[in-house]
Amino acid sequence: MNAANTSQALEHAFAVLRENDRGTYTVPTKGLYPFQWNWDSCLTALGLAELDEDRAWTEIETLFAHQWPDGMIPHIVFHVPADTYFPGPDIWGTNRPTPTSGITQPAVAGFAVKRLFERATDKAMAAARCRALLPKIDAWHRWFYENRDPHGEGLVAILHPWEAGRDNSVDWDAALAKVPTTGITPYTRRDTDHANPAHRPTKAQYDAYVWLLEHFRALDWDNTKLHDASPFQVIDPAFNAILIRACTDLSAMAATLGQVEISQRNAARAERALAALDTLWSPEEGRYLARNRVTGEQIASQSIGGLLPVFAPIPAERAKGIAERVQALLDVLGYIVPSHEPDAVGFEPQRYWRGPVWLVTNFMIADGLRNAGETAMADAIAQSSLELISKSGFAEYYDPSTGEPLGGGRFTWTAAMVIEFLRAKTAA
Ligand code: GLC
Repeated sequence: MNAANTSQALEHAFAVLRENDRGTYTVPTKGLYPFQWNWDSCLTALGLAELDEDRAWTEIETLFAHQWPDGMIPHIVFHVPADTYFPGPDIWGTNRPTPTSGITQPAVAGFAVKRLFERATDKAMAAARCRALLPKIDAWHRWFYENRDPHGEGLVAILHPWEAGRDNSVDWDAALAKVPTTGITPYTRRDTDHANPAHRPTKAQYDAYVWLLEHFRALDWDNTKLHDASPFQVIDPAFNAILIRACTDLSAMAATLGQVEISQRNAARAERALAALDTLWSPEEGRYLARNRVTGEQIASQSIGGLLPVFAPIPAERAKGIAERVQALLDVLGYIVPSHEPDAVGFEPQRYWRGPVWLVTNFMIADGLRNAGETAMADAIAQSSLELISKSGFAEYYDPSTGEPLGGGRFTWTAAMVIEFLRAKTAA
């Protein structure tokens, strides 16, 4: 990308952010996702900071204003009514003052806040806002280990595929097949009004998503009960690695701000979880593999969930192995990093998290590789990401062979990640 194209891409990205800005929060994209999503918002704040630092902090503060009394940060906050999304607030039935969903999403907040803090030009404002957020993020981290690792294994489980943020990944297929689907309330999907059904999860998957939701709702969303009562408990390496990175970053930030106890607690969480994460490494596959906590079985699915752990401070030889896997993907595909291995069972190049490239996962893998000193592969991912937006605009996800845009258009976190990639490029 030359300088003119770079500034055009930046302007385009800022326009997408402004368009999806609702004042104190952003929506992922108009129509398809008309509310605030947890990890979308935290990653989007990085892009917002390039426009307006104050607004970037507000994005995260708005999300944390809807923290549950038990510490959970929900995956969706339904700030205003809209009938273009299923399942809406009435289906969730969580009885929160402002309606929210009843499950969570990957814990990127600790990472995002540290990055905002480090880059802040107004250091006094950043320190004050950070100080107020630290105990809330710490409480969320505590919530994870208490409620999603109730038997103290060191790794947390997701209880619903939506919690991983990779809704229909091949990783969940076997575990989801054990979730009953009888007796669910009839429903009408809305996502397929906005995007091609062939690029979205299937009906059978949706039935299981709804069954889990209704099961948890019948337990009054009581997180002390949900884990053991769920027929779906999956230990996802990516989800755990993101939490570990967040604990590590929160610990460092708390130390800088003199909050010693928060710093020590999060360092201890990260250390313990990092050791447990290593038990998911598969030397044969050269990636981490998920585990089904209900059956104890390893899930031999070759997805991006096994590469994303490079976002955490994993051992250098693991990061090197992941860089090699990404290089192998680059050798056979037009664009990296696909959400599933192209020659593996279950790969579908256009169906959501079963093959397409997503810029958020690209960003996290590239960031981790860069931290691990795997600069060439980090650069290759950034370049591929920028090629995708030059060719196909700010889509929700992209076909890894053709680069075709898929899903929703003018997507907020795609725009934010483009800003991040361009920022790294101009800094280099
Ligand atoms: C989809 C994605 C999820 C994201 C949400 C809003 O459900 O799978 O990761 O947070 O859309 O963009």
